Amino acid sequence: MIRIAVLASGSGSNAQRMIEHFAQHVKGRVVLVACDQPEAGVLQRAWDLGVPSYLFTGTQLKNGTVQCELQGQRIDLVVLAGFMRLIPVELVRAFPQRIVNIHPALLPRYGGKGMYGHHVHEAVVAAKEKESGITIHYVNERYDEGEHIFQPKCPVLPDDSPETLAARIHELEHAHYPKVVEKLAEALIQEPRA
Ligand code: GRF
Repeated sequence: MIRIAVLASGSGSNAQRMIEHFAQHVKGRVVLVACDQPEAGVLQRAWDLGVPSYLFTGTQLKNGTVQCELQGQRIDLVVLAGFMRLIPVELVRAFPQRIVNIHPALLPRYGGKGMYGHHVHEAVVAAKEKESGITIHYVNERYDEGEHIFQPKCPVLPDDSPETLAARIHELEHAHYPKVVEKLAEALIQEPRA
């Protein structure tokens, strides 16, 4: 069974979908929710769903403590779901092609440092884009630059506000992220960790 850790900083609706999805699957399981914000909604969601959580600081992310925790818990796949910090290069190297992120726009546009949450949707609406979408991608040591895995699109309607667009994007995320991670988990079963 592939052991999945979800890293999140916020509300955690994607984390919840991931937990619920894998509760129905024998091949993988979300065994840990790791979070850097003590007030984040994702911690309550994890508690309600019976998934252990691990709260850490930015310093612990940088100094290798988080990496030790993930390795100690025999995590196979790290899923970022609204996680706001840069992943240190050592952690990227410790989990090669085993850390994935979801971004609420069609990268490489509307990505990079500072382009997160409502900022992304505000920029897309202000630019009068006709379409937006999500990008599920591997994580490397630079924000939003890892290899793309899947990039479904949705329309941006003429009367969309950043909020209405955000709701459409969230639906797209919830529909696709768990399924994409399931495919990655299935591929990892064929290729056990060294
Ligand atoms: C999502 O839109 C995701 O793309 C972005 O942060 C948001 C997290 O939402 N990286 P939630 O906390 O899963 O509801």
